Order: sequence, then C-alpha cells, then structure tokens
Amino acid sequence: MADAERDDGRSEARAIFASAAALVRELAEEGVSGFEPLPALAPFEPRAAPASTGDGRPVAAPSRMRPAPAAAPGQSRSEPSTAAALPPSLPTAMPALPPRARAGGHASLDVVRSALGDCRRCGLCEGRQNIVFGDGNPEAQILFVGEGPGEQEDRTGLPFVGRAGELLTQMIEKGMGIPRSDVYICNIVKCRPPGNRNPLPPEVSACRPFLDGQIEAIAPKVIVTLGKPAASLLLGREISITRVRGTWQTYRDIPLMPTLHPAYVLRQYTPENRRAVWQDLQAALERSRA
Ligand code: URA
Repeated sequence: MADAERDDGRSEARAIFASAAALVRELAEEGVSGFEPLPALAPFEPRAAPASTGDGRPVAAPSRMRPAPAAAPGQSRSEPSTAAALPPSLPTAMPALPPRARAGGHASLDVVRSALGDCRRCGLCEGRQNIVFGDGNPEAQILFVGEGPGEQEDRTGLPFVGRAGELLTQMIEKGMGIPRSDVYICNIVKCRPPGNRNPLPPEVSACRPFLDGQIEAIAPKVIVTLGKPAASLLLGREISITRVRGTWQTYRDIPLMPTLHPAYVLRQYTPENRRAVWQDLQAALERSRA
C-alpha cells in the first residue's frame, strides 16, 4: 500500500473518531447518561402507530406523505458509473447510541436528530439551505437509504421529493402497495453536495454516526439501499450495483436489499431496470412481512 493511501486511512480514522467523540459529547449534553455497545439490533416487534414525524421535528406534526414538487431538472446522480463515496478505510465499529427502548418507542430517533443539531461537521454545511435528516415512520419495518439530498430536498428539508423522489414514491405506493408514510427514508449524507456531486469520504464519515443512529433507532426489519454509494457504504466494500442488486445482504444482522437508485432508473427508463427494481422491492416487502 502506498504511503499516501496509508496516511489517508489514518486521517479518515481520526476524522471518524473525532466525529464519534463529538457525538458522544453531544448525547451527554442531551442528558443521555448510559451507552451500551450495539453488537446486534433489537428484534423487531410490531409497534403502535407513530406519534412523531420521524425527522426530529415536534411530535405535533404527524408523519405524513407530502406532495412531490415539480421536477428538478438538475437533480440526478450517475449510476452505475458513480464513484462510490466510500472512505478509504471503513470502520466496522460505530459509536454506541442510546438503546431505542430508553424512553419508549422512537425516542432515540429524536435524540439522534438533536445530536446532529445545526451540524457544521463538514463542508457541506456551507452551501445547504436545510439539513435533510429523514422522513417517515420512526417505527418503519422498511428503511430506504439514498445518497444525499438534491436541490428540492435541500429547499424543503425532506428526502426524495424531486423527480427521483416522485419515482421512489410511485415505487413504494404503486409497486409495493403501501403508503410512503409507512416507510422511513433517509440518505447517507444529510446536506446537499454542491451541484449534486457525490459526497466525499470525509462528508460521508462525518454523517455516518447519524445514519447508524437512525438505523439503530428505527430498527427496521429490512433496509433497502438505493444506488451504489449507499450499498457500498453499508456493506463496507465497493460493490457493482448491477451485480449485487436483487441479492440479499446483511447490515448488522438486518437483511439488506440493494436496488437501483431511482435517478438512474429515470435516466435509463428501460423495462429491464423497472422490472429489476420492482422485483427487489417485492422481495423487500415480503421479507419485511415474514
Ligand atoms: N437522491 C438521493 O439520493 N436522495 C434524495 O433525497 C434525493 C435524491
């Protein structure tokens, strides 16, 4: 391995530990006094209807489906040619977050959101209008993970509300036959990369504890990754999305189904791609109900 690569790995590890330490400090400030290691997530139990938005905003506004705004012409990401937004060395141990049962149900999702705060941990904060934390049912059985907010998402603070979002919504509502508000949707980075470029490794690393916190808090039965970067990140290796999509993987004991990113499907609107996503989502739905 070249010196530069070795050094990159160390800087990355330092950035990850610094970000984990900052998160732990912030959680302590939130009044969280105990941390437990997270070797495996709690087994899923059917849960009551959610009482909060799931994006960390006040409980008064229930989780709901929002109308998708008009198409955003500039919003698209490339795939499968997308360079994976993988840090050179991926951590396997994430900082421990509070157990979901602490204050009943989904409290810990709100804790994760408040730990994120008005985040300035990476350069993406400079150009953002809104942090796009996530949206949906905090107790969802299916969690979708995309790459990063686009223009419409940055403007509204909600994930997948542009053209790709419209397609994702159709895939969920028409393809899977469930309301979008039943699932939870988030991204690997919570702020829009300028010009919709791929998020850079330090940006992905800075956001990683919060994605892990969301997964821990929601404890979904199934994770569906949208596109190569999300699948590569959670699987800890750079994958070929065309090879891996449609095959069951695992992330911390949770079944993970990688599928194509809706922005890619929009650009390559072929019967094959549409069928592939349809099959992947059917498989995810079936598994979530098993
Ligand atoms: N693409 C993504 O990966 N995430 C979004 O929220 C929107 C578009």
